[in-house]
Amino acid sequence: MAKTNPEAKQKQSEEDEQRKADVTYRRKPNAIADYQVQEQTVFVRSENDIELRVTVHTPEIIQLRYVLEGDRPTDFSYAIAPDFNPDNAEFSTRETDQYLEITTDSLICKISQKDMKVSFLDSSGTELCKDAKPFHRKDSIMKGITEVKITKEAPEGTHYFGLGDKITDDGMLRGKSFQNWNTDAYAYELDEHRDPLYRSIPFFTAINKDGNAYGIFMDNTFRSHFDFDSDDNNTCTFSAEGGCMNYYFIYGPDPTTVTERYTTLTGTPELPPLWGLGYHQCRWSYYPEERVRTLAKTFREKEIPCDALYLDIDYMDDYRVFTWNNDRFPDPKKLISDLKEDGFETIVMIDPGIKVDGDYEIYQQGLKNDYFCKRPDGELMIGPVWPPKTVFPDYTHPEVRQWWGDLYKDLLTEKGVSGVWNDMNEPAVFEVKAKTFPDNIRHHYEGEGVSHKKAHNIYGMQMARASYKGIKKHNQGKRPFLLTRANFSGGQRYAALWTGDNIANWEHLRHALEQCVRLSISGYSFVGTDIGGFVEQPSAELFTRWLQLGIFHPLFRNHTMGYDAEGADVVKEDQAKQKKIQSDDNQEPWTFGQKYTHINRSVIELRYRLLHYLYTAFHKYVEHGTPILRPTTFHNQVDAKSVNSQNTFMFGDHILVAPVIKKGARGRKTYLPSGHWYDYRTNELLEGGKTHQVDAPISEIPFFIKAGTVLPLREVMQYTQERDPELLELNVYYGTQVSESHLYEDQGEGFTHNEGDYRLTKFQFESNPQEKTLRLSADREGAFTPKYDTVKINLIGLPFEPEGVEADGRSVSIQKSSADQSVYAFEVDPDFKTIRVY
Ligand code: GLC
Repeated sequence: MAKTNPEAKQKQSEEDEQRKADVTYRRKPNAIADYQVQEQTVFVRSENDIELRVTVHTPEIIQLRYVLEGDRPTDFSYAIAPDFNPDNAEFSTRETDQYLEITTDSLICKISQKDMKVSFLDSSGTELCKDAKPFHRKDSIMKGITEVKITKEAPEGTHYFGLGDKITDDGMLRGKSFQNWNTDAYAYELDEHRDPLYRSIPFFTAINKDGNAYGIFMDNTFRSHFDFDSDDNNTCTFSAEGGCMNYYFIYGPDPTTVTERYTTLTGTPELPPLWGLGYHQCRWSYYPEERVRTLAKTFREKEIPCDALYLDIDYMDDYRVFTWNNDRFPDPKKLISDLKEDGFETIVMIDPGIKVDGDYEIYQQGLKNDYFCKRPDGELMIGPVWPPKTVFPDYTHPEVRQWWGDLYKDLLTEKGVSGVWNDMNEPAVFEVKAKTFPDNIRHHYEGEGVSHKKAHNIYGMQMARASYKGIKKHNQGKRPFLLTRANFSGGQRYAALWTGDNIANWEHLRHALEQCVRLSISGYSFVGTDIGGFVEQPSAELFTRWLQLGIFHPLFRNHTMGYDAEGADVVKEDQAKQKKIQSDDNQEPWTFGQKYTHINRSVIELRYRLLHYLYTAFHKYVEHGTPILRPTTFHNQVDAKSVNSQNTFMFGDHILVAPVIKKGARGRKTYLPSGHWYDYRTNELLEGGKTHQVDAPISEIPFFIKAGTVLPLREVMQYTQERDPELLELNVYYGTQVSESHLYEDQGEGFTHNEGDYRLTKFQFESNPQEKTLRLSADREGAFTPKYDTVKINLIGLPFEPEGVEADGRSVSIQKSSADQSVYAFEVDPDFKTIRVY
């Protein structure tokens, strides 16, 4: 008999112990046993009792949900817009030996009889997207569900877009993997930390080699993972660390339509006040009061347009939210009203964390009413954020949201602030490695009662929701302006967002470009970055280049950390620091010397010129979910070359932006997609489908207008509502195709536009090159009458010498523009219907 080796025995018993520590199960469906149709849903059951519920919401939006034992049988979703209520779409089902087929007017969804693998085809039978493996779920006795996962084929040539604020080296998602877990990612990348970032948008769009686009939205709030063929095995996977596999397949076939459909599903915001699209100045922190007044005065003295100023955390009394530090701000009401007189809106920071302090009323109220998050045994969740001991409202409880919303009343009605900035709502917790709550913290979750694993990614969204509702209620008759850092799919309904604590370097300028476009095609168009960079200080050149990119971002905000703040270690400022704040670490448009002040002023002025265009694009986003920013390839997805145009993007339907994001560059290569494009600066006509070398001196940002566009230009003002514009300018860019452009106008504030007090003008441009004529018509809708009494039309790129112009049958005098002899200009009545140039 062999002797027992004591080491082997020890090993064996360790293995036995480990095996007993937990037991893991893997489940995947086998053959289809039966199926049933109930209203819009087909319930498909496998022989091993896995149910796949296929719900047809519209001919192009199909939801798939795998239900196994252990799942919670609720259809509740924070992401889906409450008003998403499509007409019941028609569909039919059919069984063959190999598949169960569900057919709508636009799609065929095939479910394999053998293992329930799913594929989608368009109605002509072209394959769009196909499972490479059956759905699977992993769970264990000790941990419960740990993974629900879908594996799709990722054929060569399929490209992936979206997924929120992710950053990459080359702008491409393919070849990489990402996770969603809202994280306070201060100075992301300094410590190689690139992912996860502040928010979770588990939605992406794929464009196949043949140009067909579709999107996938996984409506699951747990930590989730997306892999776009990072292992080079031609698969794309998406999975979540808990809950139910619940995803929507969204068909295009063009990618902008995919985003529109996703955004309709998860909701669009209301129009912001017009001032929300002006230039915003922020810093951590402008205080005391005198400094804020000086700041405002300097903007007006230097004639640099600005609409909003921000007060960061130092306006509060020792970081107690909804209080004021009376030494720094003895009379906030007076200050805010004086600023308002001068055209500045005041926006204040409100964090979720509430200081543990028995004398602090808000803490007392929350405690008394049991509004704070707790551990499983009922102990309060206390952690350090700005105050060393902080508790956190559970915004997943409707009563807490109501309470929180009402806390804004004094700020809005009494003090007169115009907007709010919610931060640290990942939720961020200092000092611990996880940077957030432990997984076992409990949340109400509308009565469901869940752990932080499920509630984490929607915590910021629910805070934003509570704030938004409160602001709307108490800022009566005004459009809410709310900015948030953390969020989840659907959170675009409540707040604008910025990309968090970036760094003042060239790499981050590139990220700024990438992140805002990516967010925008993820349903989130009201986005911007900290212009100039939050951490560290930009050079004059970097600042100007960032500002130039910023004019095309819907949120146009300059923000910096300054050096008066010391990250998590911020303690009470001493005199020495106060002195430093006043001196050398500023980041205002005039900080970098006279030459740059001059350039920066004209950059900001250009934003104000483009406001009509941006506001119109915003309106389209609100009405149809159309992303304001888009990758160039979305303009023409069958143009394979444009896929690599990562450093250009579309701003609205008619403008292609080619920002300068390289240090020292005074020109750049720019690929223009098919069609013809005009350089906005020179009016030069450039051919699309080609790469052009374009100049870009430090004072200029290259951008191009599509031929046939009618581009509305607004008067430059020191703030958006300084006065009613006296004139509307329309730049008409000659083209040979019939083209449509829009202009949306309303009061810029309030809600009367919902009762018809708006004007949507649809311009149609047509030309006849043989006859040397062109026609411009305007169709108007809505009861709003703009105050200007003249429209000035600039005809650009006219290939013939015009003999005359007729506006609604009356002849109008036309002249060469003094600024550019190739441009012809004339004036018409604001209500013109048809203009003929011959
Ligand atoms: C966070 C925010 C930043 C803010 C700072 C102080 O770092 O991301 O924008 O200035 O906190 O409130």
